Amino acid sequence: MPQARIAGIGMYVPEQVVSNQDLTNYMDTSDEWIQERTGIRERRYAHRTQETTTTMGVQAARQAIERAGTTAEEIDFIIFATLSPDYYFPGCGVLLQRAMNMREIGALDIRNQCSGFIYALSVGDQFIRSGMYRNILIVGSEKHSFGLDFSTRGRNISVIFGDGAGAVVLQPAPEDGSGILSTHLHSDGGSAELLAMYNPGTHANHWADQNYASFDEAEIGNMFMSHQMIDEAQNFPYMDGQSVFKKAVVKFPEVIMEALQKNNLSPTDIGVLIPHQANLRISQFVQQKLQLRDDQVYNNIQQYGNTTAASVPIALCEAWEKGMIRQGDLVCLAAFGSGFTWGSALVRW
Ligand code: ACO
Repeated sequence: MPQARIAGIGMYVPEQVVSNQDLTNYMDTSDEWIQERTGIRERRYAHRTQETTTTMGVQAARQAIERAGTTAEEIDFIIFATLSPDYYFPGCGVLLQRAMNMREIGALDIRNQCSGFIYALSVGDQFIRSGMYRNILIVGSEKHSFGLDFSTRGRNISVIFGDGAGAVVLQPAPEDGSGILSTHLHSDGGSAELLAMYNPGTHANHWADQNYASFDEAEIGNMFMSHQMIDEAQNFPYMDGQSVFKKAVVKFPEVIMEALQKNNLSPTDIGVLIPHQANLRISQFVQQKLQLRDDQVYNNIQQYGNTTAASVPIALCEAWEKGMIRQGDLVCLAAFGSGFTWGSALVRW
């Protein structure tokens, strides 16, 4: 069977624009610090009560489905990537299936954080290649704004993240060499705790036993979310930013080169590189390392911040809407994030 192609693409970002200056109302930070370290000028925050990760995903999905020239009824599998689901369980895939009145098709949730969309794309591609499905909807969506520590304590993380959603529809590619040429997935759990949200979680009296030796019996029954966990901000994401940076600038170029070499191509063949929008400094480092021109790399973290699983499809959608991606172009998608997990995909548009 042929590989998959991206038949339609869509995105959605909430209306509310939050500037770096706006964040200074809540925490001790500055526009200068944020721009210098991350490149971010502003980000979008979803409506507190009227928008969720799923509802934003639905908006992006509608656009992708329409652009693919198909309908929600024709979709035969859903893959939903997010780290900020509406519920702890069930996942967003089924909520999207319900919201879009889809048939009783399969719905799979992917929990690979920043590289979630690349993982989802790879899984979708395999289903198309095997002939199991012909019309797969992939969504990456995040509502980070509901779960960040907006006090000065959380500033090294909270200033980075934004909300939004992106989606694609995968269909079998025509027999002309177009479509997803290859995908490459990796992980290294050795550093799992360097970029993580620890609680609520079942690790409390296992992996982190030494940290909880002081728990008294009364707290044991409340391990799911104790007062101590909240006091220690363990219900918010934790990041060792410098360690993440050091690993990301090695793994991004490595996994991009892996994809190029697999297809006997080189960086000069890349039409557009869409890196996960982790941090503008990371993207610039990768660009420099691969000796890519400015017009070969698309970044929009300046406007949206880091939208994790949504960042690659949002950037891909914008680059496509701006006419930067034309038929026959080689598009490289790459991501690195929590886990650590990372991956790349090479697409002949
Ligand atoms: N505003 C002002 N000051 C801040 C802020 C803030 N938002 N955040 C931290 N600081 C202060 C710290 O308190 C510290 O002050 P001190 O020296 O008085 O103690 C100082 O700035 C330096 O803090 P660091 O945490 O060491 O900051 P660093 O220079 O490492 O920059 C950053 C932080 C931007 C996160 C950097 O580590 C980085 O780029 N890491 C890459 C990780 C990344 O991009 N993650 C994105 C999400 S994960 C992903 O998508 C892969």
